[in-house]
Amino acid sequence: MRIAVWMPERPDAWVEGLQRELPGADIAVWAAGAPPADHAVVWAPPQQFIDEQPTLRGLFNIGAGVDALLQLRVPPTTHIVRLDDAGMSVQMAEYVCHALVRHVRELDVYEADAREGKWSYRKPRLRRDFPVGVMGLGVLGERVAKAVGQFDFPVNGWSRSPRQVGGVQCFSGAKGFDEFLAASRVLVCLLPLTPDTRGVMNRETLLKLNGGAPGGYVINVARGAHLVNEDLLALLEEGPLAGATLDVFETEPLPPDHPFWRHPKITVTPHASARTLREESIVQIAGKIRAVEAGAAFADLPGLVDPQRGY
Ligand code: NAP
Ligand code: GLV
Repeated sequence: MRIAVWMPERPDAWVEGLQRELPGADIAVWAAGAPPADHAVVWAPPQQFIDEQPTLRGLFNIGAGVDALLQLRVPPTTHIVRLDDAGMSVQMAEYVCHALVRHVRELDVYEADAREGKWSYRKPRLRRDFPVGVMGLGVLGERVAKAVGQFDFPVNGWSRSPRQVGGVQCFSGAKGFDEFLAASRVLVCLLPLTPDTRGVMNRETLLKLNGGAPGGYVINVARGAHLVNEDLLALLEEGPLAGATLDVFETEPLPPDHPFWRHPKITVTPHASARTLREESIVQIAGKIRAVEAGAAFADLPGLVDPQRGY
């Protein structure tokens, strides 16, 4: 069995780890003209990588989001499999809870005060006044919704198909969207980027937060293109929105002159909310390759992507 590896950073470390897990396999970093492989382990490969390997059976993405992979022409016989958690959901839960608590408890204001040697209290704010809405109740969204609930915030969740998550008021589809937005004050985006979800956070939808009252807050940890940047900036300026924590951007790295960097109501992190953990990911991907080589159906693998659905 031959496995081709393509990724922008440390491909050798992935080859080494996969080789340890799959000692009988012939595993190498891909180069143009290499013999076609049976499986590939990738992040953002070029179209040539796919074109030169039309017999690939498994294309294993080392991230959860497959929006970049789905831009490529991939033969229907090649199955795309994404990471299924592999240590990401706990990181995402930490990140979102941190951003939420920092905002609600005004820890950013305390930090600024402390830098000036100022001892002053903020008026306590009530959790019930900060219902959280998690868009996307998949592997990451469900974990985040439950974690937020552990801090006693009211939690709403929104998904494409109806879901039930303990402690979470669930909404689904276009029909449930307005009600979901109106019931939520802090909006967390954990959707995959698809034609249906591109630009989902825009002037019209953001104005529906918090029952239309001011004070909405945005936490975007999915993809930059879920958010219409100009609409966010305008709503922060005009007053309906209180702030945003943004981890993902349409252009990454975020250009040095981008207004988000220095905006007083925006916190920026460099797409770091849930990192791919190499060792956990290698073990997961190698396990899946072993399973299909032993006769398992791709359809039975957690994380199999449906290209029609877009995630
Ligand atoms: P997932 O398990 O596939 O879950 C996706 C969720 O979104 C599902 O609940 C799905 O609904 C829902 N959804 C999809 N399309 C929808 C639509 N049109 N309307 C309403 N709900 C919709 O994905 P995941 O593993 O949780 O990852 C989510 C995303 O997080 C990834 O795609 C990636 O972009 C992003 N991510 C970011 C980072 C980072 O570091 N910033 C790291 C990892 C992942 P159903 O339940 O009905 O299918
Ligand atoms: C990171 O953004 C991922 O999709 O895994």
